Formats: sequence, structure tokens, C-alpha cells
Amino acid sequence: MAEIRLAIELAGLRLRNPTMNAAGVLGLTAGLLRRVYEEGAGAVVTKSLGLKPRMGHPNPTVVYVEAGLINAMGLPNPGVEYFLGELGRLKAEGIPVIASFFGETLEEFVEVASRLSEGGVDALELNCSCPNVEGVGLLGSDPGAVERVTEAVKGCVDVPLFVKLSPNVSDIAQVARAAEQGGADGLTAVNTLRAVAIDVETRRPILSNVTGGLSGPALKPVALRCVWEAAEEVEIPIIGCGGISNWRDAVEYLLCGASAIQVGTAVMSRGLGVFREIDEGLRRYLEANGFKEVSEIVGLAHKA
Ligand code: SIN
Repeated sequence: MAEIRLAIELAGLRLRNPTMNAAGVLGLTAGLLRRVYEEGAGAVVTKSLGLKPRMGHPNPTVVYVEAGLINAMGLPNPGVEYFLGELGRLKAEGIPVIASFFGETLEEFVEVASRLSEGGVDALELNCSCPNVEGVGLLGSDPGAVERVTEAVKGCVDVPLFVKLSPNVSDIAQVARAAEQGGADGLTAVNTLRAVAIDVETRRPILSNVTGGLSGPALKPVALRCVWEAAEEVEIPIIGCGGISNWRDAVEYLLCGASAIQVGTAVMSRGLGVFREIDEGLRRYLEANGFKEVSEIVGLAHKA
């Protein structure tokens, strides 16, 4: 029987398989991120970190809807310094860590990224696409701003930089190109889709922030379209994200042009076992179809 290799090389990172958690899922303590790795992920991604501790929006911040959930957390986090303490414990165990981060100004993006890079993260994921914090979400819909912030961050870090794109734009290919031109080593596509849920009893929006970001299965076809359009536009690798619940979803993303995938909402609905299930399903799919490596199927749906 041919040996199937799930290991991938992603913008210079060597990962044992192409799965990771999406930023924000399970927070950022070393204990929880270690569990994600122990349950089969190839790398772990932190909740988005800012320069200082931040409370986020008041409750309610999450609501389940048909085929997904809407969140408007407002980027709560304990600040970059807190995470640097946790990071040491993860690095001592050889766990590949991708730190998601944001800033309220270009200078803050640079400062947080520099501290994380110096602190020893393996890669960075620049969050310019949170739909729940005005400055951060708007940034991701302005290609010029995306290029500038990417370039500024890239100029001061030593690790691969992924830019997480928003689906809430009219031309995602343009934003993808801007990130690539700014020097991004890869993209994550995509963050959540702006949405609203209404309570018929109170006759009011359910979330305190009124709008939130839709994730889960309802997002998948939109996110796949975003990956498709980005993959047609850029040369850098793409991490697919949005509604991945099982190995079939993961294979769809790989065929669509993603080199790796992130799982978010399904970790909450199905538990951490989802990583091993995706790894095993992917291995079976490759074997049954005569492939030896994950990279062989990346982008196949684009080929005539
Ligand atoms: C949030 O904290 O509101 C969600 C984070 C994000 O969508 O980037």
C-alpha cells in the first residue's frame, strides 16, 4: 500500500497535516491550544491579540441560527504580553503556533506583530477583517490600506505573515492582490459574513452589537467562492476557512485552491475530535483516488 503523506509545507512552515483551528475558537491559553494539537491539528491559531487588554462587546455576543452561528465578541483579549507567557509553554512542546493579531492603528499592528515575532511564534495572521470592530473591519475592505499595513508589518517581522481576508467586500481578488503586493506570505480566506438576528418576542436585534459575523455551514459556499477568486488572482498559498465540518468540506477547499484549512464553528458543535476525523478522511480520500500527498490536490478544480 502506498504511503500517504498528510504533511505540508506552507509558506516555509512545515506542518504534520493541513488542519488548524480558526482564530478565536477556544481562546488562547496554552492548555486549550495544546489540546487542539493533541487532538490532531497540524498547527494552532490564537484568538486575535491586541496591544492592550480589551473587554469586547457586552452580552449577548453569540447567537445560533440555521446552519451556523453569529458572533459579535468585539475582539476581547488579554493583550499581547499575557500571551507571550503562554507561548513559552507551547514552544517547549514543539507545537506550531500562528498568532492572530490586530491593531487600532498601523503603528499598533506593527508593534503587536513585532512583539509576537520576537517572542517566538511560528507565523502571524493579520486580522484586518473582524466585522464587529469598525476600524479593523473597514481596513480589510480597502485594498490600499491592506497593502500598507501588510508592508509595514512584513518589514519588521521574521516569520511568515498570513493576511486574513474579509468576505464583506465587492472584489476579494483585489484585496488578495493588495496583500500579496504588500509582501504577505499567504492568505486566510475568510473571516465571517456580516449578519443580523432578530428576537420576535422583544422585537429587537439579539446581539448587543446589532450586527455580527456569520460562521458555520451557511458560510461555506460563500467562503469557497472567495478562495476560488483569490486563488485565481495570487501565487501565495491560501488557508481556507468557513464552515468546514468534516473531511469532505476540507477536500472541497483543497480542490478549490486552499493549501491548508481552519476549523472554527465545528469545533464548538462537534468537539475537538473533528481534527482527527478530517485527517483520517483526507488520508482515505487521497489513497482511494491514487494521490500520495495533500499538495497534489490543491487547486485541482481550477484545471481544465
Ligand atoms: C470578534 O471578536 O468580534 C470576532 C473576531 C473576528 O471576527 O475577527
